[in-house]
Amino acid sequence: MSSSQELISLGVETSCDDTSLALFDSKKGLIDYILSSQANLHKEYNGIVPELCSREHTKNLYFLFPRLLERNHLKPKDINFISVTTSPGLILSLLVGVSFSLGLSYALDIPIVPVHHIEAHIYSVFLEYNPPYPFLALVVSGGHTEIHLVKGFEDYELVGKTLDDAAGEAFDKGAIVLGLDYPGGPAIEKFLSDKNPKLVDFPMPIKDERIAFSFSGLKTFLKENKDKYTKEDLAYSYQEAIVNHIIRILRRAIEKTSVNRVVVVGGVAANKRLREKLKSMNIELYIPSIKFCTDNAAMVSLVGDMRFKKGFYYTKKDLTHINPEPSLNLEAFIKSLKTKN
Ligand code: KG4
Ligand code: ZN
Repeated sequence: MSSSQELISLGVETSCDDTSLALFDSKKGLIDYILSSQANLHKEYNGIVPELCSREHTKNLYFLFPRLLERNHLKPKDINFISVTTSPGLILSLLVGVSFSLGLSYALDIPIVPVHHIEAHIYSVFLEYNPPYPFLALVVSGGHTEIHLVKGFEDYELVGKTLDDAAGEAFDKGAIVLGLDYPGGPAIEKFLSDKNPKLVDFPMPIKDERIAFSFSGLKTFLKENKDKYTKEDLAYSYQEAIVNHIIRILRRAIEKTSVNRVVVVGGVAANKRLREKLKSMNIELYIPSIKFCTDNAAMVSLVGDMRFKKGFYYTKKDLTHINPEPSLNLEAFIKSLKTKN
């Protein structure tokens, strides 16, 4: 198999609570993707229950795989390689996607390409745009809030990250305090859509000069002031405080690196208020469509295709090296690829 041939790959994403598969053509790009969200299931528990996630992934993959192939008139034997998220994420969830990929790889005798979830989020923007290097990648999701300087494919440098919660986690935890649904970001947005709230002053996190995020103080303030203000004033002001904090720290990163080209990805990049504020900044901005901000396998298949084209994949003889790691950071993941041979 040569990387200059037209190849079809299968992307597999099960790192958290969304089960998603994608088909990617190495010459034409994304063919199709399919997704099953577990949000309704976890709503009942006000957050993600890891064991339920993995059970659902197992069931979902069983019907998503044939459905995706059938609607694209493809058969399993048409797949040339598999790209799968191996880190970071919930270990039980990662294991379902990785085990599914290993079984398929073995049965079809095709290679596997490991993909880092944060890297997939960063490259989700390439499904629709082609930003030149270097750029800053602001990743704001349910599990991560960090800024990387992206100098090229597989050439990443962490600029700053959260010291406590992730931005999405702040939305999710705040929504519980406010008596709103999971996931919190969309629930807060929906709740505010027909309101006319007033601004309540929240304390500003990270008062010194660090390029770091912190959301736990905002959540504490929300809890402590729950009975002092109306629900709509609090929901609005909490969202404002999160968004303003993200923008403030992003500005610092731009200043420090002198890189004015910014890619904003991850579930929280779907937030309308954040998108509005980013668009009013004097930067070269790239944000994926909302459907590609939250977890999906399309972004995984794109990164897998890029990595495969560089000649990196595992075959039958070394499949045992694929080891899902729940908390491996992006830079360490790239380093681990370089030590494969
Ligand atoms: O990237 P993602 O789908 O999963 C992770 O990798 O974590 O992000 C999920 C997070 C959740 O915390 C959810 O509340 C948040 O993204 N989110 C939003 C919005 N849509 C999803 N936060 C704010 N506004 C939204 N519209
Ligand atoms: Zn994600």
